[in-house]
Amino acid sequence: MRIIIVSVLILTGLFAFQNRMRTPEEVLPQDNRNVYDVLQSLGDSAANHTFRPEVKYASAVKGEEIFFTGNTTGPNGTKTKIQSKLFKCWACHNTVIEEPDLTKYDPEARLRYAKEKHLPFLQGTTVYGIVNRKTFYNNDYYKKYGHELADKAHRNLREAIQLCAIGCSQGRPLEDWEIESVLAYFWTLQYKMSDLSLTPKEKEMVDEALRTGVDKQKAIDLLHSKYADHSPAHFLLPPADRKAGFGLQGRPEVGKDVYELSCLHCHKNGRFAYYYLDTDGYSLRHLRYHFPRFTPYSSYQVICWGTAPLPGKKFYMPQYTTERMNPQLIEDLRAYVESPKMAK
Ligand code: HEC
Ligand code: HEC
Repeated sequence: MRIIIVSVLILTGLFAFQNRMRTPEEVLPQDNRNVYDVLQSLGDSAANHTFRPEVKYASAVKGEEIFFTGNTTGPNGTKTKIQSKLFKCWACHNTVIEEPDLTKYDPEARLRYAKEKHLPFLQGTTVYGIVNRKTFYNNDYYKKYGHELADKAHRNLREAIQLCAIGCSQGRPLEDWEIESVLAYFWTLQYKMSDLSLTPKEKEMVDEALRTGVDKQKAIDLLHSKYADHSPAHFLLPPADRKAGFGLQGRPEVGKDVYELSCLHCHKNGRFAYYYLDTDGYSLRHLRYHFPRFTPYSSYQVICWGTAPLPGKKFYMPQYTTERMNPQLIEDLRAYVESPKMAK
């Protein structure tokens, strides 16, 4: 009898301890409902990029293959032509949540998050939750692609996929069933209710609106307030005086993270570039030498402007917008390559 009482006490203690260790959000059961479906049930307007099952041969599995390997099995059962010999979509886009706060695009918070989760820090936004966005290629992107292309892609995710396949990946256009496949894959990465930081009270409010039909618009507005509906994009200018830079105190330890999580993602062993970078002294000295100079190798220049694809040398570097990398992080990178340890 005593053993039973003791075991019950230990178990209760363990249970209480476990619960104390959890944050309030984690106590909520996992809610795998799609945010889009909940919004639809509440009467929100539909997206113009819902998957069209009537498109023959299209599937999420094929879309995922295109995203990661550049090709898939075509209608006649053989492998399709590789979309781009240079890039794969994952060179520039993550497929998981990359912002700790889904309402914001904050490069510093994202860098810390990327480090914690071992994610690359890239020029393109994550495609997780992309189907929950309303507009694409926002703000300054028309300056890069012109009004005609950017406007077409602005309110149309299918056009945005195509624009990026040609413009970013520097490859052949995707066929309709391939675009639909990529889209189907993106729908597998849509936001779930558990991804949004809803308090138990807010969740109850949404469920109440679903049950009773009262305050539906309030519930819709609440859900929309929990994530950004577009990825803002404002171009950066390199500092006019490259010696003085942006005039901010750089933090070498943060610059190291920028270098390792971002630059090396493409440049290490020339994975997605011809120009090799490594953690050896040679790479860092090269960057250090060019940073404050008016040369095409200056990091100020390539980060803010990117590089242009040249005929016969189509690899190019996409620029970072202020939402993807801000002046502080650029100065941090400079401080890292100029840190005394690297000055040898
Ligand atoms: C060389 C880098 C690069 C590659 C490769 C690349 N992208 Fe992009 N992509 C970008 C950048 C930069 C943007 C700019 C907008 C943003 O993401 O904020 C972008 C934007 C997009 C957008 C619009 C996102 C938005 O919210 O504005 C879509 C959709 C997209 N890419 C799909 C793809 C697909 C599909 C592939 C593969 C076929 C691909 N991309 C390959 C860099 C790239
Ligand atoms: C999405 C992939 C990608 C990322 C991330 C990236 N680069 Fe690049 N970078 C390229 C490509 C592609 C080129 C074009 C020249 C080439 O192929 O080597 C380039 C060119 C450059 C050049 C000019 C080299 C030349 O031969 O003209 C420098 C310098 C450079 N990158 C530095 C950086 C730094 C610093 C970072 C991190 C802040 C970075 N890159 C991040 C892909 C990338």
